[in-house]
Amino acid sequence: MNLKQMVGYKAAEFVKDGMIVGLGTGSTAYYMVEAVGKRVKEEGLQIVGVTTSFRTADHAREWGIPLKDIDDVDHIDVTIDGADEISSEYQGIKGGGAAHLFEKVVANLSDQIIWIVDESKLVEQLGAFPLPVEVVHFGAGQVFRLFEKSGYNPSWRKEEDGERLVTDSGNLIIDLHMGVIEEPKRLATWLDSITGVVEHGLFLDCVDRVIVGSEQGPVVEDVDRG
Ligand code: A5P
Repeated sequence: MNLKQMVGYKAAEFVKDGMIVGLGTGSTAYYMVEAVGKRVKEEGLQIVGVTTSFRTADHAREWGIPLKDIDDVDHIDVTIDGADEISSEYQGIKGGGAAHLFEKVVANLSDQIIWIVDESKLVEQLGAFPLPVEVVHFGAGQVFRLFEKSGYNPSWRKEEDGERLVTDSGNLIIDLHMGVIEEPKRLATWLDSITGVVEHGLFLDCVDRVIVGSEQGPVVEDVDRG
């Protein structure tokens, strides 16, 4: 079993009958959806899923997981999702799979958030992984230039054919290659203030539990936010 599969399957154990479950996106969350789907099929687990991307929705349907639109639930009991980096203070970068907008909307409605990662995602400080910023088409080049001027080394997220990637919401993504993000909260506040920016991939002060996959097995870390 690879590490992504290990943590995906471990996380599925935290899903209980009657829960509304946020289903994350990415190659790690993929295994969690598979594991939850197996429990639905084999154990008759009764849950409702709320998905964070079109591709996760397709995958969940393949497993027969009943789904609801996010506007048709009043809360989400637990959301299980991957992450691109997790700092020693349990702050995260997400959006390597271009789904961070839906992921943040789902996270904001969730009573509990679990991130599942292999140990390579754990870092001291965020920033080695490019920070995704979703922007509307109109004026996207102006936002790009603002990032250039600010010294954040932006690049357009592209598809394999070289075309700019378009998100599930029809927007573009600019990745910021910062190396180290010294002050994630200050950066998040600044990004939130830019007209044309829809959402960025800094997920701060939100995770409750992290499941880390290592050769020794999955390690469950509960986050104490005081
Ligand atoms: C999707 O946009 C992301 O936020 C993913 O959750 C994140 O990129 C982790 O993906 P992997 O599990 O594929 O590394």
